[in-house]
Amino acid sequence: MKILITGAGGQLGRDLVRVLGRWHCTAFTRQQLDIADEKAVRRLIAEAKPEAIVHAAAYTKVDQAEAEPEETYRINAIGASHVAISAEAVGAKMVYVSTDYVFDGTKGEPYDEQDRTNPLSVYGKSKLLGEQLVQAVCPRHFIVRTSWLYGKDGNNFVTKVLALAERQQELTVVDDQFGSPTYTYDLAECIGGLLETDRYGIYHVANRGYCSRWALAKTILELAGHTGIAVRPARSDDYALPAPRPAHSAFADRGLRLAGLPRMRDWKTALEAFLRNDWGKTDENGDRRSPIEAAG
Ligand SMILES: NC(=O)c1ccc[n+]([C@@H]2O[C@H](COP(=O)([O-])OP(=O)(O)OC[C@H]3O[C@@H](n4cnc5c(N)ncnc54)[C@H](OP(=O)(O)O)[C@@H]3O)[C@@H](O)[C@H]2O)c1
Repeated sequence: MKILITGAGGQLGRDLVRVLGRWHCTAFTRQQLDIADEKAVRRLIAEAKPEAIVHAAAYTKVDQAEAEPEETYRINAIGASHVAISAEAVGAKMVYVSTDYVFDGTKGEPYDEQDRTNPLSVYGKSKLLGEQLVQAVCPRHFIVRTSWLYGKDGNNFVTKVLALAERQQELTVVDDQFGSPTYTYDLAECIGGLLETDRYGIYHVANRGYCSRWALAKTILELAGHTGIAVRPARSDDYALPAPRPAHSAFADRGLRLAGLPRMRDWKTALEAFLRNDWGKTDENGDRRSPIEAAG
């Protein structure tokens, strides 16, 4: 399969390049392809003639997006539509990576793919519009919603907690936001699995289970062997962040189960693997360990 990846310089993009490298991949960073540039998108996709496109490029600065709505929509919605139109023109299937922030977090239990969306922030609204535009123009789409990403190449919650632990004896973390932390390597593997099928539609793809930000910070420190660092709970209201966040945006993986696709492993096992930095290592038989459990 010939795959084209956008946003290849991002934290997910880099793991996509590693994981999907078993196929023929052409990967574009922002410098190589600005997805808001309609002509460039059309030209490059027409030249590359991919059979599948994984669209990981996005405007991801959630708080800054509140002050830059035009730029956010230009990239997350209009940019996605450029990619989708070109995907359809060359007959490629398309993965659009979306977010738990399309939900308002008031359900009180994990969201499945049928649940009503109601984004609270400019970022969430722009990503939802991106979903809708992709669905409208490219029937062979996978809308892959994911959440709380961390990976080797990102500046994310996990790497931030580890960096703070090097210089502070005490951290303060909100305990009223719940979600499903997800390792980019696992997400990339799952996207690879989806691309091998024609079971198009919306999928919630996150490491299984959920926790609060506070519990996540505690677990990171425990697993990384940082003993003696206190993690104080705080409330989101104590921090005046520009973008509202959903309070409880954990995912249920109904879509993957109904399609008979491998489920993601649980979030603690994935986090442990990330902290051991064992992605892509081979086992005693020389086979690459798959981070995804067998279906069931
Ligand atoms: N991070 C999370 O917790 C999270 C949660 C749910 C869903 N997601 C979704 O997952 C996907 C990957 O996120 P990520 O965490 O890997 O984010 P990321 O590290 O910020 O990667 C996004 C990449 O897109 C690039 N980009 C921005 N504008 C672009 C443009 N106009 N043209 C081409 N490339 C552009 C960025 O380049 P620059 O850095 O140079 O701007 C960056 O390399 C996104 O669709 C995001 O919405 C993320």
